[in-house]
Amino acid sequence: MLKNKLSQIKKEALAKIKATNSSKELENLRIQYLGKKSEFKKILRSIKDLASQEKKVIGPLANQIKENIEKTLQSRKEEIAEEKEKKEEWIDVTAPGKRNTLGHLHPLSIVQRDIEDIFVALGFEIADGPEIETEFYNFDAVNIPADHPGRDMQDTFWISQEKDRQPGSGIVLRTQTSSVQVRYMEKNKPPFRIIIPGRVFRNEATDASHEHTFHQFEVLVVGEKVNVANFLFVAEEFFTQFFQEKIKIRLRPSYFPFVEPGFEFDISCTSCGGKGCSVCQQTGWLEVGGAGMVHQNVFQTAGYPRNKYQGFAWGFGIERLAMMKYKIDDIRLFHSGDLRFIKQF
Ligand code: DAH
Repeated sequence: MLKNKLSQIKKEALAKIKATNSSKELENLRIQYLGKKSEFKKILRSIKDLASQEKKVIGPLANQIKENIEKTLQSRKEEIAEEKEKKEEWIDVTAPGKRNTLGHLHPLSIVQRDIEDIFVALGFEIADGPEIETEFYNFDAVNIPADHPGRDMQDTFWISQEKDRQPGSGIVLRTQTSSVQVRYMEKNKPPFRIIIPGRVFRNEATDASHEHTFHQFEVLVVGEKVNVANFLFVAEEFFTQFFQEKIKIRLRPSYFPFVEPGFEFDISCTSCGGKGCSVCQQTGWLEVGGAGMVHQNVFQTAGYPRNKYQGFAWGFGIERLAMMKYKIDDIRLFHSGDLRFIKQF
């Protein structure tokens, strides 16, 4: 009788343990079958009242069954834990990968580096100067004294305007990279060829083609026999390399205080190659910036003897060139911080 009951309990318990998938359920089963209030424990307690003949059979059998149930509980517990671990560790190798977004150079940095590379290959040195500049280097030194109308050509952010003190002692956010010309020449003797890339500032309203903060690169080549033909060669070579296509140059007479003669500098349209299109307003030419042969007054301020040297200089906007190269129609995009724009480069 008892024997049958015990094997019945064993059979039932093992079947349920094997069928469950939850460790919580396993614990319930342990309590149900081996706990203090279980049928099994009742039987164990009753063994002492059995006839000794029967005791010898039921005692070991009950122990065996208890061990068996415990072992099964234990191994099922381990199995469940293992299954759970496998499920959590499972990697779907067919799922699309998550890409990390990497940072990259700003389009202006890319273009500035391109420009520098071309000039370095042509034997130029890269020079720079401060963005917060004295009135002297920004204006006076490049032939724009205080009363000169040339000062009105550039709306200036003044940091201090010390009119009562020494002339040129005011402080400005530099309006042009031409401010570095005399700084460099004071420390270096010709012949030399340099480019001066850098940030400049204008106190102006902004629109699609004007920014209060933008970049220029100044080119300055000085020697005893530097002439306009050298200038044209360097310019054509630079633009052809920069746009990776043959570019033609056109000079128009213009005025800048630090050059004589001064030119407005145009290149053949990079959209239509010079045939005429909407980008160049059917003219075939795009205006790039100012240029000219360095004024002797500038050399004199730098401490060079008058009429000993000649040089050419230009100052072009880096944003403007970037806009032409990448067909960007609003200069304000560069400093907008708009990632949809930045990520395209
Ligand atoms: N500094 C001038 C500007 O910002 C540009 C310029 C014109 C620079 C003629 C030059 C030059 O070196 O020769 O408007």
